[in-house]
Amino acid sequence: MIQIPRGTKDILPTDSSKWQYIEEVLRETCRNFNYKEIRTPIFEQTELFVRGVGDTTDIVNKEMYTFTDKGDRSMTLRPEGTAPAVRSYIENKMYGDPNQPIKLFYQGPMFRYERQQKGRYRQFEQFGVEAIGVEDPLIDVEVISLLLDIYKSFGLEKLELHINSIGDFESREEYQKALREHFAPSIGEFCSDCQSRLDKNPMRILDCKTDANHPLMKTAPNIQEYLNDASKEYFEAVKETLTKMGIGFVVDPNLVRGLDYYTHTAFELMSSAEGFGAITTLAGGGRYNGLIEMLDGPSETGIGFGMSIERLLLALEAEGIELPIDDTIDFYLVTMGEVARTEASVILHRLRTNGYRADMDYKARGMKAQIKDADRKKAKYMIVLGDSELESGKIHVRNMETREEVEANLDRFEEEVNFDEA
Ligand code: HAM
Repeated sequence: MIQIPRGTKDILPTDSSKWQYIEEVLRETCRNFNYKEIRTPIFEQTELFVRGVGDTTDIVNKEMYTFTDKGDRSMTLRPEGTAPAVRSYIENKMYGDPNQPIKLFYQGPMFRYERQQKGRYRQFEQFGVEAIGVEDPLIDVEVISLLLDIYKSFGLEKLELHINSIGDFESREEYQKALREHFAPSIGEFCSDCQSRLDKNPMRILDCKTDANHPLMKTAPNIQEYLNDASKEYFEAVKETLTKMGIGFVVDPNLVRGLDYYTHTAFELMSSAEGFGAITTLAGGGRYNGLIEMLDGPSETGIGFGMSIERLLLALEAEGIELPIDDTIDFYLVTMGEVARTEASVILHRLRTNGYRADMDYKARGMKAQIKDADRKKAKYMIVLGDSELESGKIHVRNMETREEVEANLDRFEEEVNFDEA
């Protein structure tokens, strides 16, 4: 039997209504914040991620699904959404749009060849936003508050917002220099990845999963001490506004994020719910002031975040939150005999055309089995249709919850039923 690829999953009909509910909340929140959807291809030229995400990152070095197409071009299934959004921003000259900043959201499958574990998949559904074209602490705060709004609107409470500033290029350079000096004498004790990171991007060493417990990790220089005045001021403004909004946060100087393009504000939302599992990061994002130029665009800047719906679902589960999903149907037609079955399908057509959710039995089951089916399908009302009902044009509509029955007319019962009672 052919099986589903490792690290992927089917979203079965029993679960898909949860996904649809979540997707609707995401869209609604974006409407409130005035972010508009962008849809980009699932694959892009490999070069986009090598340059955009960075050739020292795990994503680019180990995790990309890269293939050569029939035209001999190297293509990659997108591992994240920021580089494609920025590619499209540049290509479609959105920087020339009078409507600034450009506020985008996206949702779709992303692909990373990672070791599968709870909360980590090879294909996952990522939702993200990007606000491009403005460098202002207030837009950073807007993006962070949008993120929190999403999680709070599901009733989640065990959330912890971690923020940090990676500073501007000047501060980042100073910090990288300090990190090199710190790690260089003992770099031989680190993994080969870290050895190559030392030169190219020593901040990546702080992210290393293999060497996380090396004593030098704990004594590594703190980025906060390398921020220049402009970077400090920027970060202060972000923190101050968050505080005024009542958004709590923890400053986490070790938060450097796994992608190369970050400057200034970086943040992650973690779940502090018990039993969440080893990976507690629900979402991550930050400001990227060099990315657009790195991809041959104008000197504009942006900020955004990404989150997977899979991890949101894990958080809901860990906090025991049930989503208010309405998977009821309005009417179930129980039929007795062939004539009634045909008539029921015509009535179903009428009901559905008028916007009612309705269903019937198609397996010619007995009456008892059909009533059970009506319950299983969460019908609000049930109608039994047999020869006598068809003859008289009168039926009984049964409220499935109270088990009460009222008489109604076959040709317009849907208008006679009081739905407020159901
Ligand atoms: P990231 O931290 O690589 O950032 O991923 C963001 C979120 O995507 C994670 O916090 C997690 O919810 C989800 N995620 C990532 N990998 C997996 C996986 N293998 N399985 C399940 N979920 C996963 C980015 O992708 C940046 N583009 C975020 C961003 C947007 N920064 C600025 N704008």
